[in-house]
Amino acid sequence: MKLKREKWGSRLGFILAAAGSAVGLGNVWKFPYIAGENGGAAFIFVYLICIAVIGLPVLIAEVLLGRSTHRNPVGAFRALSKSKFWTAVGGMGVFAGFVILSYYSVVAGWSLGYIIEAIKGTFYDYTTTTSSGEHFGGLVSNVFWSIGYLAAFMVLTMVLVYRGVQKGIESGSKIMMPILFILLIVLMIRGLTLPGSEAGLSFLWSPDWSKISANSILIALGHAFFTLSLGMGAMMTYGSYMSKEGNIPAASTKVVFLDTLIALIAGMAIFTAVFATGQDPAAGPGLIFHTLPVVFIKMPGGYIFAILFFILLTIAALTSAISLLEVVVAYFVDERGWKRHRAVITFGIVIFLLGVPSALSFNLMADATLFGLTFFDVADFLAANILLPLGGLFIAVFVAWVWGFDKALIKMKVGAEAIFENSGWLIVLWKIFLKYFAPILIFLVFLSSIGILPKIINFFTDLF
Ligand code: TRP
Repeated sequence: MKLKREKWGSRLGFILAAAGSAVGLGNVWKFPYIAGENGGAAFIFVYLICIAVIGLPVLIAEVLLGRSTHRNPVGAFRALSKSKFWTAVGGMGVFAGFVILSYYSVVAGWSLGYIIEAIKGTFYDYTTTTSSGEHFGGLVSNVFWSIGYLAAFMVLTMVLVYRGVQKGIESGSKIMMPILFILLIVLMIRGLTLPGSEAGLSFLWSPDWSKISANSILIALGHAFFTLSLGMGAMMTYGSYMSKEGNIPAASTKVVFLDTLIALIAGMAIFTAVFATGQDPAAGPGLIFHTLPVVFIKMPGGYIFAILFFILLTIAALTSAISLLEVVVAYFVDERGWKRHRAVITFGIVIFLLGVPSALSFNLMADATLFGLTFFDVADFLAANILLPLGGLFIAVFVAWVWGFDKALIKMKVGAEAIFENSGWLIVLWKIFLKYFAPILIFLVFLSSIGILPKIINFFTDLF
């Protein structure tokens, strides 16, 4: 006899778990530095449009596919279409779960390790970004340090997923998300009250339109995808634990709102402090691990704020990691009849092992490259530039063109009657965005991320 499938205990449970998936390293680590590099407010403006026009519509589509079928991504497509092609799209999502979690956990492990560094006070030994960068380089090239924290982070992720949807993922998110929010507000207030913080605000909020190019628009769109955990069925899987009464458009809008708000607050917390302590805002990916430790030792109360910051970053990563592992687990539970516990332990270990070469990409395997990319870079490139945009494209096309809006809307209306009655135009917008805007724009992102689009653009500009 098949056991009853798990579901969320409450509506808030879904919203916090989904927001937990969305809010991750993407918000706290990546968003601030890409906004910094691409024109501050101008970039944020473009990013917000991408979130509204592509992010939210695709998120709604994913959650809808999940709730309509109560299945993992493979089962969801299989339930709605006979074609093997669509089942394979679901399979690609499960595969992406393995790939993303393996390298995501490496960075999350660094964050975990930095909590300990902050507690030990080691940041005080490195007073310039160069020396703190070298300190970071030393740590990540220490095999015991990087693999040790990778393992520790994986264990945390496994414990939560092992406990199940309600007792692990939902309860964990209900505790961690409020803590994350409070820590972030505390850090933002600290940043805003530092003398000289205005420079950080104007960096973030004064638009530099000259930095907006085709490329930065594509970066904004790609990030909109990553930050909302779209394109591989994570939100589909979470949607599959939603009960019939859930209001999909409303819940999805709340998730998008929280994710965006948290990215903006993280940007403010970071840039006010970076400017107030006279550091370089354009440090790129190293901003968090090279620049921030120096920022903390230069500001009053920095010892404690450093600890809080890395706890915040680790929590953000953990609530995202559990959604990635859950996709893999849900597949083996639904489709292969595995027990949750066995699936968590087996694939937790498999993904850890897959993460090892990513962690070693910064030391022993730094020279083992493919097209000049290390194992870590290949995993990141494969997931963020190929699997996710393709997955997102297929999800939009599937709902709009294959499954069809007639059927989709019948399912979506359940729980969302009020929106259908009072704000029907929102539904019309959703259809237009999902049917035309999302596929075309995502396709462009895809071409650009595999490097073809720039060549096409050059070809045409050379013609004239
Ligand atoms: N959204 C997370 C972040 O911003 C990352 C993430 C979690 C993710 N699950 C995902 C990205 C699924 C793509 C797909 O850090």
